[in-house]
Amino acid sequence: MAFSRRMRVAAIGAALACTALITPTVAAAAPTYRDASAPIPDRVEDLLSRMSLQDKIGQMTQAERAAADPQTAASASLGSILSGGGSAPEPNTAEAWADMYDEYQRAATATPLGIPLIYGVDAVHGHNNVHGATIFPHNIGLGAANDPQLTEDIGRATAEEISGTGIDWDFAPCLCVARNDRWGRTYESFGETPERPTANATAIDGLQGEALNAPGSVLATAKHYVGDGGTTGGDDQGNTEIDEQELRRIHLPPFQEAINRGVGSVMISYSSWNGLKLHAHSYLINDVLKGELGFQGFVISDYDAIDQIDGQLGFTAEEVATAINSGLDMIMVPNDWRKFTELLRGEVENGHVPMSRIDDANRRILTKKFELGLFENPYTDRQFTGTVGSPEHRALARDAVRKSQVLLKNEGGVLPLAKDGGKLFVAGKNADDIGNQSGGWTISWQGESGPITPGTTILQGIRDAAKGTEVTYDRYGQGIDSSYRAAIAVVGETPYAEGQGDRPSGMGLDQEDLATLKKLEDSGVPVIAVTVSGRPLDIAEHLPRWDALLASWLPGTEGAGVADVLFGDHNPTATLPMTWMTSADQQPINDGDGQKPLFPYGFGLTY
Ligand code: GLC
Repeated sequence: MAFSRRMRVAAIGAALACTALITPTVAAAAPTYRDASAPIPDRVEDLLSRMSLQDKIGQMTQAERAAADPQTAASASLGSILSGGGSAPEPNTAEAWADMYDEYQRAATATPLGIPLIYGVDAVHGHNNVHGATIFPHNIGLGAANDPQLTEDIGRATAEEISGTGIDWDFAPCLCVARNDRWGRTYESFGETPERPTANATAIDGLQGEALNAPGSVLATAKHYVGDGGTTGGDDQGNTEIDEQELRRIHLPPFQEAINRGVGSVMISYSSWNGLKLHAHSYLINDVLKGELGFQGFVISDYDAIDQIDGQLGFTAEEVATAINSGLDMIMVPNDWRKFTELLRGEVENGHVPMSRIDDANRRILTKKFELGLFENPYTDRQFTGTVGSPEHRALARDAVRKSQVLLKNEGGVLPLAKDGGKLFVAGKNADDIGNQSGGWTISWQGESGPITPGTTILQGIRDAAKGTEVTYDRYGQGIDSSYRAAIAVVGETPYAEGQGDRPSGMGLDQEDLATLKKLEDSGVPVIAVTVSGRPLDIAEHLPRWDALLASWLPGTEGAGVADVLFGDHNPTATLPMTWMTSADQQPINDGDGQKPLFPYGFGLTY
């Protein structure tokens, strides 16, 4: 049957109408990068293809929270924000941190491409910027415990507290190998040989969990690459003057281990190697770290560190180009981040920094953001907020304190002390001070003395353990006499961080401690010295007048763990992660160097 033209047109019209009826409107397909089921490399390439040069430079820029509020950060397409040591919201509570983090993510994901930011903090012995968080022993104590599973468990607990505040990136663990105890960051090291830093890289497993997008996981950072603990004189940010064989033998193994454990980021050291700043070291970053060791994550600078490349104040276009071309992927420019983005744009436009390098850096950064699940879950997982400072985490911290106490002298078995049977005297500036027993990187960058956060002081721990005993405390030892069965002097250092902790001259006890100890020594009562410090101290000349010596390091908020050892509830098991000098003149002094120490690396008594 021949159709007339009119009928044909009508038939086509009817067909189209039917199609419209039965074919739902096909929504514009979601871009691949937003498809959580798509392979991450495909998501990265799709997103990269949609990004402008500003977007890409923004991803490589990390600003301090105080220098970029959420709207500013989003408008500038910043890829990352950090809290420097002590940079906290007001009030400094877990909830306020979570609200702050969520505000940054709301702004970031409201931009056209909606790329979530990644937020970094130094949670180096617990989530130490947050008031009320559990403060674990610093790494030197964990090195003394040398229990990789414990270190992993602490990493997990720390990750949960971090996650409960929204934060998704921890600038930890420090895998430095501290060769000279004069260095102000000795306490951030697990040990003076690669052995214990390598063994305790399990912190990464605790922090990153089974998968980066698993509940409670955060991105870890192996730092500071490489040789930061080997500078001449223990000079923080100084010059590591050793040959490549020694650099590879001593300082590289912990980073190899970190990469084997899938660490997501690496932070570059301020220090130099034979005169060249690590932030300008293409051989060590591009060839060794990314090439030979096969590091697939991203490399971040240290705080304002690119300023130091040319030795002049402030950073220049040349320093920016040098750092990026040397293999750094993200630059921590806390305040001058606008200047950085402008200079880097100029260096790309003039060809000094190839677009391929910009794209490689973005692939590395975006891959971690996708792996963290930030595009699907950019906001705080509030199920973990209640873990901040929880009884379970504090119990873990107390166990770590027990296991980190090194018993160096125990004349006549004066330890363990009986929990009853005669008065005890406690003295020393570090006996009743949460700030002093926690050390640097606690609430503030440098840390400080006093009741800075909730916890149990060593004195409180002693009192709780010896409930049947009268315990007298006087910081200066006033009132000690022969009526006491023993005197415990908790002495040592007050808090410091980084270069402010360098000790280029004396490494002994301060005058207050020495005067306190003398009162106790002169009383004829058995003296038990407890050193709270970030390093071995120069105490050999005083040791003969002490009946016992316990190295407590920087135990953190759970001081009761020290009493657990003093009263025998835990038999001391820890050993020295650092050789203990006979004299400061011996520094650097390390295992196998032929010098005669007061106590050798690996030494520790038990009951
Ligand atoms: C500091 C430290 C580094 C820390 C960074 C961010 O100067 O060197 O360990 O992660 O800045 O606070």
